[in-house]
Amino acid sequence: MINFKKEVAKLINSIVNIPIDELEEYIEIPKDSNMGDYAFPCFKLAKTLKKAPTQIAEKIKNGIKNIPECIENIEVVGGYINFYIEKNILIKEVIQEIDLKKSEYGKTDIGNNENIVIDYSSPNIAKPFHIGHLRSTVIGGALYNIYNFLGYNSIGINHLGDYGTQFGKLIEGYKRWGTEYDIENNPIEELTKIYIRINELCKEDEQVLEECRNNFKKLEEKDEYCTKIWSKFRELSLKEFERIYEMLGSKFDSLNGEAFYSDKMPEVIEILEKTGKLKESEGARIIDLEEQGMPPCLIEKSNGSTTYATRDLAAILYRARTYNFKKALYVTSYEQVLHFKQIFEVAKLLGLEEKYTNNLEHIPFGMVLLKTGKMSTREGNVIKLEELLNESIKRVEKIIEEKNPSLEPEEKKKIAKKVGIGAVIFNDLANSRIKDEIFDWDQILNFNGETGPYIQYTYVRTNSVLNKVNEIPSINKIDYSALNKKESIEILKLIYSYTDTVKLAALKNEPSIIARYLIDLSHAFSSFYNENKIICEDKNIQDAYIYLTYATNTVLKSSAELLGIKMPKKM
Ligand code: ARG
Repeated sequence: MINFKKEVAKLINSIVNIPIDELEEYIEIPKDSNMGDYAFPCFKLAKTLKKAPTQIAEKIKNGIKNIPECIENIEVVGGYINFYIEKNILIKEVIQEIDLKKSEYGKTDIGNNENIVIDYSSPNIAKPFHIGHLRSTVIGGALYNIYNFLGYNSIGINHLGDYGTQFGKLIEGYKRWGTEYDIENNPIEELTKIYIRINELCKEDEQVLEECRNNFKKLEEKDEYCTKIWSKFRELSLKEFERIYEMLGSKFDSLNGEAFYSDKMPEVIEILEKTGKLKESEGARIIDLEEQGMPPCLIEKSNGSTTYATRDLAAILYRARTYNFKKALYVTSYEQVLHFKQIFEVAKLLGLEEKYTNNLEHIPFGMVLLKTGKMSTREGNVIKLEELLNESIKRVEKIIEEKNPSLEPEEKKKIAKKVGIGAVIFNDLANSRIKDEIFDWDQILNFNGETGPYIQYTYVRTNSVLNKVNEIPSINKIDYSALNKKESIEILKLIYSYTDTVKLAALKNEPSIIARYLIDLSHAFSSFYNENKIICEDKNIQDAYIYLTYATNTVLKSSAELLGIKMPKKM
């Protein structure tokens, strides 16, 4: 497709001595298309050229010669030069590209198949999968798809919390009271009970605490009995997590959790020792980070046990060696900001090339706040995620029942699953990830709000339009000029910008940019739909409108899938 922005940049470059790439970064896309399709702000040049922005704008505009066919008009408004693109060319470019690529529309290979390691979800064994893990799963999963779409090779790692001193306690509790609990059928809840009970006992009895510590030591030394019980906890917990992953459609390339690094930590400690920076402190070993303005990073506890941080350091070494990554991302709540700052700092001591240590990135996200209502909170404050997803599906089933009672019961169920889960996913991604999110059923499931159900509903609408005709018209028959009006151009401009939008989402690791895009595209289609009769007497117009509907349908589905949202055909 023609790169309109680049064409604009070339024109400016013919007058101003700034590289085209840099100019492209300055060029803006005005919110109001009356101000042009692209605008160049001259304020940036005012200082160096020692002239008023308006004067500069005039000078550039007047100097431009050989305006290409794809630029219709150039205007100066204030300190801006506004460029209007030739709409008939935009229409032709977009339609031809959709026709060529179909459902692959928008994909690129700029990623050169380089590896992007994404550490996400990462719940803890024998503990509830909570709503924070849901956010990590959803955000990480979206990033995974986004990078793949751009031609990178995403590697999804579920860094399970399957190691640490708490397992010493769990093993002890299980040893003592295992038979009293039904951990086969209800592992997480039952193991949580055991954990609470053993903790109580540890508080009363120093001897028991010592036993627990011992168990963990034994686990680290690969003691057969301890390892066997631990494996059982891990397997049963994973089976429970699997149910949630199945609902969300989450997939991972690796389930190497913390335990996987147990035999890889001695090397980390050895390397750190050699740097001379590993210091004794109250019997423990630490890396001092005072100079960097942070508390010390605990590498080895006073009893010789390793820590969460050490395991993450071993994981960095392993991931650099195994995946030769272009970037390694870590998706967790902002509560772990300090942890990642610390380990990224310490990672610089591991002797890795800078291309690795400079490309470790924490992707923090905000908390989920509950608008109190009826949501089961059996584990104190922890919401059981599976219940939440099922509740969403149930609520949607009710809404569908009202809106479309004639659907087959089986179909209704399938749709409710897509919509109920899609609603929760969309809500998780709708706002900039660092913001705290308020969980409110009425908002999440509002079919008219900026929600998952709304975009799905728009998609369904495009489908029902397409179902009214026998086939998508061949593009040779399409009269492009029929699409040269405000509402259709809005849609085509959005479709044109799809790849750039995905690139921006990757650059900022911000799936909400795609969520916003989906809302904008849905709004644009709704306006078009409300203003125009698609199935009409004029066959020329109908064909063009049908094609536009098909293009919208294609991109809505593609971009929703980037977020992990499945689109129903009906609802
Ligand atoms: N298991 C941790 C938690 O639930 C998250 C792990 C994140 N990944 C990592 N490499 N530290 O908080």
